[in-house]
Amino acid sequence: MSTKLEQYIQSKDNPNTRNAEIINQRKIINGKDDGLMQISPLKHPWADELFRTMLKNTWMPQEVPLAKDVEMWNDPNALNERERNVYKRSLAFVSNLDGLQTNNLVNNIVRHITSPEVSLAIVRQSFEEALHVHSYATMVEALGLDPDEIYGMYRRDMQLYSKNKTVLQAISKIDDPLFKTGTFENDQLFLEACISNIILEGIYFYSAFLIFYVLRRNNKMPGSAEMIQFINKDEDMHLRIFTHITNTIKEEQPELWTSDFQARIRQNFINAVEMEYNWGATCIETGISGLTPSNLKEYLQFVGNMRLESIGLAPEWNSNNPFPWIDEITQSNMIEVNFFEGTVKEYSIGTLEW
Ligand SMILES: [Fe+2]
Ligand SMILES: [Fe+2]
Repeated sequence: MSTKLEQYIQSKDNPNTRNAEIINQRKIINGKDDGLMQISPLKHPWADELFRTMLKNTWMPQEVPLAKDVEMWNDPNALNERERNVYKRSLAFVSNLDGLQTNNLVNNIVRHITSPEVSLAIVRQSFEEALHVHSYATMVEALGLDPDEIYGMYRRDMQLYSKNKTVLQAISKIDDPLFKTGTFENDQLFLEACISNIILEGIYFYSAFLIFYVLRRNNKMPGSAEMIQFINKDEDMHLRIFTHITNTIKEEQPELWTSDFQARIRQNFINAVEMEYNWGATCIETGISGLTPSNLKEYLQFVGNMRLESIGLAPEWNSNNPFPWIDEITQSNMIEVNFFEGTVKEYSIGTLEW
C-alpha cells in the first residue's frame, strides 16, 4: 500500500476521478487514503453518526457538583474503611486506564485507519479520554486526596500493578513505530488490538463504574457517581466505535476471522473476565452493601457475554444481569430515565441538569 503522500502525488495523473470512486475503495485499514479527510460521501456512515452523537454529548467535569462528596469524605462516619478503600482503588484504576487509552488511540490505532470518517470518530474519542483523565483529577483535587496515593498506587499495590501490566501488554502488541498493516499476521494483530479496546471499554471500565454506582445506591458519593455516569456515556460510544470497527474489518477482510483467531479472541475475553473478577474481589473483599463477590462475578460474565455476542461470537457463560437497575446507564441513548431519581432527563450540550 502506497503512503498518503504517494497517493496524493498520484492523484494528478487521474484528474477526472470522482470522489465516489475513491470512496468505494475506502476500507477501515489498508484502504485508499490520501489523508485529506474527504468525508462526503461516506463509506462508513455509522462512524459519522457516532461522531455527531459524541459532539452532542459534550460536557465538562468542573460542572459536576462534588460538594456533597467532599462533605461525606470528610465525615469519618459517612463511609467505612472498606468503602473508602474500594473508592480509592477504583479511582486509581480508572485514571490509569484512561491515561493508557488516550495514548493508545493516538499512538497505536488512529495512524493505521484509512477511513477518514472513522479517524474523526477516534480523534473525538481521544479528546473524551483526555477529558476523563481530567475528571479523575477533578475528583482527586475536590476530595483533597493525596495524588501520590491515587496515581502512584500501581507502584505499591501489586494487584493494580499486574492489572495495568496486562492491559498494557494487550495494547502494546502493535506499538512498534515500524508496525504496518497489510500482511495477514499484522492485520490479525490490528484486529486483535481493536478487540482489546472492546475489552478495555466494555469490561474493565464497566466493573469499575459498578463500584461507584453501588456506592451511590447506598446514598454515598453522589457527585462521583454523576461524574462516572457522564464518563460511562462516553465509554458506551467508544464501545460502539470499536464494535463497528471490528465487525466492518471482518466484512472487508473475512479471511482474518479464522477459527484459530476466534479461539484466541475468546480466550482474551475469558482472561479479562477472570482478571477483573480477581481484582474486584480484592477490592470489595467479602462485599459492600449490595455487591458481593458472587454477584460481581455474575455481572462480569454477563457483560463478557454481551461483548462476545456483539462481534459474532457465542456467549461463554450462563449468567444473567444481577443489577437490572444499571441498564438505564450502560445501555442508554440521548434521553433516558435517571436511575437514581426516576426522572426523565435529556442529555445534550449545555444540559447538565440531571
Ligand atoms: Fe475514557
Ligand atoms: Fe473510552
